[in-house]
Amino acid sequence: MARAQQIRRIQEADVAGKTVLVRVDYNVPMDGRTVKDDARIRASLPTLELLLQRGAKVVLFTHLGRPDGAVVPELRVDPLAERLSALLRRPVQKLDDCVGAAVEASVRAARPGDVLLLENIRFHAEEEANDPSFAAGLAALGDVYVDDAFGTAHRAHASTVGVAERLPAYAGLLVQEEVDQLSRLLRDPARPYVAIVGGKKAADKLGVLRDLVARVDAVLIGGGVAFTVLAATGAEVGGSRVEPELFDDLRAILKAAKERGTEIVLPADAVLAPALSAAETTVGDAARIPAGLCGFDIGPKSVAQFSRVIAGARSLVWAGPMGAFEFPAFARGTRGVAEAVAASGAFSVIGGGETGEAVEEMGLSDRIGFISTGGGACLAFLRGKSLPALAVLEG
Ligand code: 3PG
Repeated sequence: MARAQQIRRIQEADVAGKTVLVRVDYNVPMDGRTVKDDARIRASLPTLELLLQRGAKVVLFTHLGRPDGAVVPELRVDPLAERLSALLRRPVQKLDDCVGAAVEASVRAARPGDVLLLENIRFHAEEEANDPSFAAGLAALGDVYVDDAFGTAHRAHASTVGVAERLPAYAGLLVQEEVDQLSRLLRDPARPYVAIVGGKKAADKLGVLRDLVARVDAVLIGGGVAFTVLAATGAEVGGSRVEPELFDDLRAILKAAKERGTEIVLPADAVLAPALSAAETTVGDAARIPAGLCGFDIGPKSVAQFSRVIAGARSLVWAGPMGAFEFPAFARGTRGVAEAVAASGAFSVIGGGETGEAVEEMGLSDRIGFISTGGGACLAFLRGKSLPALAVLEG
């Protein structure tokens, strides 16, 4: 596991006059061709400013979405270059590929202080395969490699691991901040340590639940995940979406939690409707949902119940909304929990993605200890997994 003091840091690198390749994670939410949330782009600015101040030529690469090795015009990174240029207040030259003679010529022609953004790296299947010759082609573009893509640190790809193995490689300031902050929950967290787990799909959170029950003192389960867990315990969840193939695993996790003394808190009530688009909603017992109704949010009793546990916590991690918060009728659970987390005196971490967006939209982000730019990467780190893109920066 990468500890903050073990990874090589950009501050140690000699970058003046050098071409520095920077892997960023600008895989940001888009609204068509418009950047919807630029938090990940803003988070990379300190590293880029440091490199520019020190006289480097900066060559950036990122992925956007999952084009699966094909050129997908809607996933070209031009809007990202435009937003970065506005934030950095200097031109950003966007190139139409990330390897090849034309790219090499543009990089050679650039001067210290210039910023170039290469095309979506996942347009090449070799990226996700960590293909050695593709990684060597990328590495040949620069003198030094900087990883500032914390959100992609759990992926062993050519642009995260392959290039780092071939050049002097350092962690950027964002990666350092993420490792420093998240390490507070990994090593000897202040207790009680409480995890709040939500989101649509239980399958996405199975490993997180399994590993976190061994690390935390209580787990509060909301969102779509809660209905599958409730159903696994024999509760009636009506027409709520459930993943029966996970029942055995979930029961094993609940048993392990009981043996270890980790408290599992399931919602007492839920906001119910026949469909997400329904005009009318009701609140009912989350474990006795009538056929024809589905749970789309945790109810007010659950918010109170969760808030009590949150108020007593000294460390908190939250991943996944409590309901379908994009619909106002099902946003109260997420809002209530966000307010409880913001009001708590605990060191709180939010694991990226939708939860971070929700807290930002609610204007509460200033009252959260740390909002990670990583979703999957943040949770993998907090589960105690070794992240390949960090491991390669150690030593
Ligand atoms: C993310 O948004 O979680 C990262 O950019 C990783 O994206 P991926 O899950 O498509 O690898």
